Parts: sequence; structure tokens; C-alpha cells
Amino acid sequence: MASSISSKASKIQKNHSPSSHGTLHKSVPISGLLLFLFCIFSLNPPSNYQPFSRPTTTPSSSTNISHIVFGIVGALNTWNSRKPYVESWWRPNITRGYLFLDGQPTPEFQPWPSNLPPFHVSEDVRKIPTFPKTVRLIPARIVRTIIEAFRKGDKNVRWYVMGDDDTIFFVDNLIGVLAKYNHSKYYYIGSNSDFVKSNYDFSFDMAFGGAGYALSYPLVEALAAKLDAFLVLVL
Ligand SMILES: *[C@@H]1O[C@H](CO)[C@@H](O)[C@H](O)[C@H]1NC(C)=O
Ligand SMILES: *[C@@H]1O[C@H](CO)[C@@H](O)[C@H](O)[C@H]1NC(C)=O
Ligand SMILES: *[C@@H]1O[C@H](CO)[C@@H](O)[C@H](O)[C@H]1NC(C)=O
Repeated sequence: MASSISSKASKIQKNHSPSSHGTLHKSVPISGLLLFLFCIFSLNPPSNYQPFSRPTTTPSSSTNISHIVFGIVGALNTWNSRKPYVESWWRPNITRGYLFLDGQPTPEFQPWPSNLPPFHVSEDVRKIPTFPKTVRLIPARIVRTIIEAFRKGDKNVRWYVMGDDDTIFFVDNLIGVLAKYNHSKYYYIGSNSDFVKSNYDFSFDMAFGGAGYALSYPLVEALAAKLDAFLVLVL
């Protein structure tokens, strides 16, 4: 799996606005995610899991833009400066997905424009009884976008692609890469951090939200069922 991630890394384009602070914040939960995936696979390997697999088969009908749901993590206080990044790649009424915000948009953001992803206010983990009071809110919110995007219940989804509000996706390239993989299997595809320390600290191949990463539907389905219980332990 690790070699598969790194070999694909260069194919998923990424933006070049390293924000070390943000990256550091995200690196912790995302590395937790990888560890979690590792645990799922090693303790309870799904029957179709093939370590270090290469894409060998193409699913019957090829993957197109409608099969992807994007989960974009944003914040109200930076949204005005990040909006142009999202506008640059989002295709209104064609791309599917959500912008996850840390609060209800104030009147200055209303009405919410139809050329942008619809927003969704992230769940407040402090209101989830199983989370300890000490939970780190930002990492929890970022990782939980996976669960919250899944719970939107979109139909005919093959991939969930998660990124930040300053991630620029090259949508056609992304589809080209994802179409090579069988979306019915467990896949986690992404790129190393552009922040060296984050890669160093976690010392193994893993994908970071800054460049965006893709999770196949069955993997997200499996994660959504267990992720909260796991986050309670690590955050
Ligand atoms: C994709 O994976 C599923 C689940 O392992 C398998 O049943 C199916 O045959 C695969 N499709 C192709 C085209 O290989
Ligand atoms: C994408 O593929 C599905 C079949 O899986 C098809 O129904 C749909 O029309 C296609 N959408 C686009 C935008 O090509
Ligand atoms: C998207 O679709 C809705 C209704 O289907 C329409 O009102 C809106 O103008 C469309 N937005 C864009 C930017 O095309």
C-alpha cells in the first residue's frame, strides 16, 4: 500500500502554498488515520485487500466526475481569502461535495453563491458524549469531515476526495488517476506533505490533506463506522 501511495503521489497535483502551521495541525490526525487504516488491515484484513497492489483492473463503467464527492475543509475567518482557490477548480452543478465550515456563515457570506460548494457546518465534537473534554477540536473536525461527508448519503459515489480550502484540484487529472483503480476495493491514495517535518515526524508514507487524498467508497464506509471510537483514543 505504501509504495502504491508514493507512486501515485506525483499524479495528484497539489497547490504550492505551504502553511507549516496548518500542515502540522493536520498531520497528527491524518497520521492517526493511516495508523488506523493499518490496524484495520492488519488485524482484520478484508478479503479483497491486496498489499502493495497495482491497479490491474478497470471497473466496468469508467469513473467520471459524478462519482466523486469532495469534502473541503474551510474556516469562516479565512474563507474570503480561500474562496478564489475553490472557485478555480469547482464546477458548479457538476462537481459534487461540501465545504465544511467551523460555524454558521454570518450575513456577510449570505446568500451562499450557487457557484460554490454547498456549505455544511461541522459537528461540534464537544456535544458528542463519547469525546473527552480535552479533545483537540481542530484535528477532530478535520478528520471527521470523512464521516460527515459520508453521512450526507450521496448516491453512486465511488470516491471521497478530501482537501483543504486552499487545495487546487486538477479535476480531470484526478479522475484519470482514480479511474485506474477498482473503487469497490479499499484504496487510500494521496501525497506526502510539502512540509518536510510532517513527513519526518511520522516516518512513513502517508497522505496529507493539503494536497488532498482520495478514499474509495467501501473504505470510507468502513471508516465511518469506527473512526469516532478511534479518534477518542488518539485526540
Ligand atoms: C472490483 O472489485 C470487486 C471487489 O473485490 C470485485 O468483485 C470486482 O470483480 C472487481 N472488478 C473488476 C472489474 O475487477
Ligand atoms: C458517469 O457514469 C455514470 C454511470 O456509472 C453515468 O450514468 C453518468 O451519466 C456519467 N456521468 C457523466 C457526467 O459522464
Ligand atoms: C445550479 O443549479 C441550480 C438549480 O438546478 C440553479 O438555480 C443554479 O443557477 C445553478 N448554478 C450555476 C452556477 O449554474
